[in-house]
Amino acid sequence: MASIPLRLKDHSYDVLIGPGVRTSLAEVVGRLGAGRAVVVSARPREWVPDTGVDTLFLPARDGERAKTLGTVERLCGEFVRFGLTRSDVVVSCGGGTTTDVVGLAAALYHRGVAVVHLPTTLLAQVDASVGGKTAVNLPAGKNLVGAYWQPSAVLCDTDYLSTLPRRELLNGYGEIARCHFIGAPDLRALPPAEQIAASVALKARVVEADERDAGPRHILNYGHTLGHALELATGFALRHGEAVAVGTVFAGRLAGALGRIGGERVAEHHDVVRAYGLPAALPAETEPAELVRLMRHDKKALSGLTFVLDGPKGVELVYDVPPELVTRVLDRMPRAPLAELVGDAQPAATPDTARS
Ligand SMILES: NC(=O)c1ccc[n+]([C@@H]2O[C@H](COP(=O)([O-])OP(=O)(O)OC[C@H]3O[C@@H](n4cnc5c(N)ncnc54)[C@H](O)[C@@H]3O)[C@@H](O)[C@H]2O)c1
Ligand SMILES: [Zn+2]
Repeated sequence: MASIPLRLKDHSYDVLIGPGVRTSLAEVVGRLGAGRAVVVSARPREWVPDTGVDTLFLPARDGERAKTLGTVERLCGEFVRFGLTRSDVVVSCGGGTTTDVVGLAAALYHRGVAVVHLPTTLLAQVDASVGGKTAVNLPAGKNLVGAYWQPSAVLCDTDYLSTLPRRELLNGYGEIARCHFIGAPDLRALPPAEQIAASVALKARVVEADERDAGPRHILNYGHTLGHALELATGFALRHGEAVAVGTVFAGRLAGALGRIGGERVAEHHDVVRAYGLPAALPAETEPAELVRLMRHDKKALSGLTFVLDGPKGVELVYDVPPELVTRVLDRMPRAPLAELVGDAQPAATPDTARS
């Protein structure tokens, strides 16, 4: 089992990673001094161990469509009916949509009640549950309403991953692959639990340096500028992590075209992404001009086209990259039909290896 500390100015917690770590829940709740707990989950009740205190289990829907202010309101209403106080605790058990919406409900209920996350997808374990960002969607777009609310503990039980479908695993591996270029060691040959621990450790250090996204935290968006555009352009047929993988390959090629990195490092982007079984080519159905238009509207693009790129001084935000160059690099990307891209993607880990 790995324990990754996250130390912030006025709040610290540990992220526990490994098989069976969910059984620490009662101990965590005990340490918080909570008298009651509400567990919110779309997963089976048996997935959540005993909390050691009087507990309400609230079944919830998950997925993007449940990530709304309406869900937050409904959850808070249930908290009141159960008599949850500000010294009690809320527990989320599920993927990133669950940790996001439950995290926001905990941030708002009585202006903040402790929350413990039990992330059950690879993406939620390596990314969504760690770092304190919570949000819900509006009809106008994803994650438009949210708050920073750090959990009191995160229990990444790798046994949960044994039931994850192949593409959900790949979704998480997209985020692990981009860690290779933003300060993590080479994780390709490691067992999943160690890959998760290293990715969480990297995110923890970045969040410690920049909890509120004022600067250094932008490196976590490596591969995401094109990634977000690809999700939109494919109507979310490419999963987030898959789109980030293609975006990572593109970020390498763009940094190469700008003379920021050499050919070997450009090729490393492709090799790392493929080693995780992720797609590395642009979907043939997408148009470079349309992708450039979508990238101009990326919320991280303060002025012109902005990318997080590798370079001689390490990874940094590069502003105002000429659109003609971006289009040229997109034009030269390998292309494959969408169905082939996602069908061709090999599992990065089998359920059995995900257990170790
Ligand atoms: N707050 C942050 O910092 C942050 C960071 C990254 C992503 N996110 C958010 O996370 C969300 C995506 O998370 P996600 O990919 O986990 O999505 P998700 O919660 O929709 O889960 C994906 C699918 O996996 C299923 N599932 C969950 N656990 C399972 C298990 N153990 N076995 C089998 N199936 C399981 C779910 O029912 C769902 O169908 C997005 O809404 C994104 O905005 C937040
Ligand atoms: Zn991401």
